Amino acid sequence: MTDSPYRARRERVIEQMRKAGGGVAVLPTAPEVPRNRDSDYPYRHDSYFYYLSGFTEPDAVVVLDSRTGHSILFCRAKNEEREIWDGYRYGPEAARETFGFDAAYPIDEIDTRVPQLLADAPALFYALGASAQQDRQVRHWLSAVRAQGRTGVSAPSAARDIRAILDEMRLVKDPVEIDIMARAGKISAEAHVRAMKASRPGLREYHLEAELLYEFRRNGSQFPAYGSIVATGANATVLHYRAGDAKLRDGDLCLIDAACELDGYASDITRTFPVNGKFTAAQRELYDIVLASQQAAIDATRAGVRFDAPHDAAVRVLAQGMLDTGLLKHDAVGGLDDVIANKSFSRFYMHRTGHWIGMDVHDCGEYREEGPNGERPWRTLVPNMVTTIEPGIYVRPAPDIDERYWNIGIRIEDDAVVTADGCTLLTRDVPVDADEIEALMRG
Ligand code: GLY
Ligand code: MN
Ligand code: MN
Repeated sequence: MTDSPYRARRERVIEQMRKAGGGVAVLPTAPEVPRNRDSDYPYRHDSYFYYLSGFTEPDAVVVLDSRTGHSILFCRAKNEEREIWDGYRYGPEAARETFGFDAAYPIDEIDTRVPQLLADAPALFYALGASAQQDRQVRHWLSAVRAQGRTGVSAPSAARDIRAILDEMRLVKDPVEIDIMARAGKISAEAHVRAMKASRPGLREYHLEAELLYEFRRNGSQFPAYGSIVATGANATVLHYRAGDAKLRDGDLCLIDAACELDGYASDITRTFPVNGKFTAAQRELYDIVLASQQAAIDATRAGVRFDAPHDAAVRVLAQGMLDTGLLKHDAVGGLDDVIANKSFSRFYMHRTGHWIGMDVHDCGEYREEGPNGERPWRTLVPNMVTTIEPGIYVRPAPDIDERYWNIGIRIEDDAVVTADGCTLLTRDVPVDADEIEALMRG
């Protein structure tokens, strides 16, 4: 797999390390986490580690040496006894070959080999302060190098955060990544279609969650990308509600924010639909405002604009809609510009319109950049960044709000790849238009 994207990424990181003065980078994968006694939580690799290796076994570390240009993998040794119980392991030799490393060693050798690699390295690159265990290990390795001081070697005199390099790389996706994200988006969209079709009064939230999970898994997804939200009635106004056991009631909406992870990449979709297949007039009014605001944000997403342009576009439409419906009263809050300037809209729209998405659902990457005079403006979008676009309206009961809107929570969310002159939505295989949702549910 020498033409693998992983090897190419490692080479790019080494290039960046050289520009920063050079040194040795150490990147471990995620630890296994016990759930109870001898049962672990389902294992999920570390995203940074996977980005540079494509390797999904636990107990593994990538080491990059900018002086030799070598990339090295430490992984679990072959072990017939353990493989009978826990399954196949590559072992260093096959892993080196398959994943295109220059060298690979058993993980048990890391504490002797890394101090040797660190000798005379100008800097150590790692995820500074990300885990107490890693910090302890680094201290141990550095002490081991310093202990050789009398032999004339010196320890790195600087530590740099490897994530500063990796975050920038991960922010702009390559074609391999976009292809996986498109497939994840399709599976997740099909899962939403399945849940909409299954919906009827009397079922419980977990019944729809089961439909989603079934569709994810039967299409090869390894995990949900995050805890599935299936929220009916008033639960939809609780932003981080998870799928529970509430009954789907005739006349209520159901908000589903759920999507799968496929081959290490997340998708993120929200749809809101009537439990019985037909929006009420009040639900439809608010739904169409959220949909129009999402369209405005989509229209504002393209290379060259700032990250907050889609948010601002969505807020304008939402705020106007809040004034038109009387959720916000002109007498109390003023006109559209006042509502935006004073953020009065945030009573019903309290989150932002998007976040980076990639290997992690809330992906890495700075949202702001360095301005010429030390200011930190929102960063400028470039092609192949991927962001969600997810406006909403959430109405809690209150005496000053028309009762017909009480307990309505609506969000619509899609994943967008930024292009030179617009964006490509990866998650539109599930309808978003209210009439189309009703037609699907009439099915
Ligand atoms: N599902 C998490 C989010 O929408 O950001
Ligand atoms: Mn979401
Ligand atoms: Mn999201």
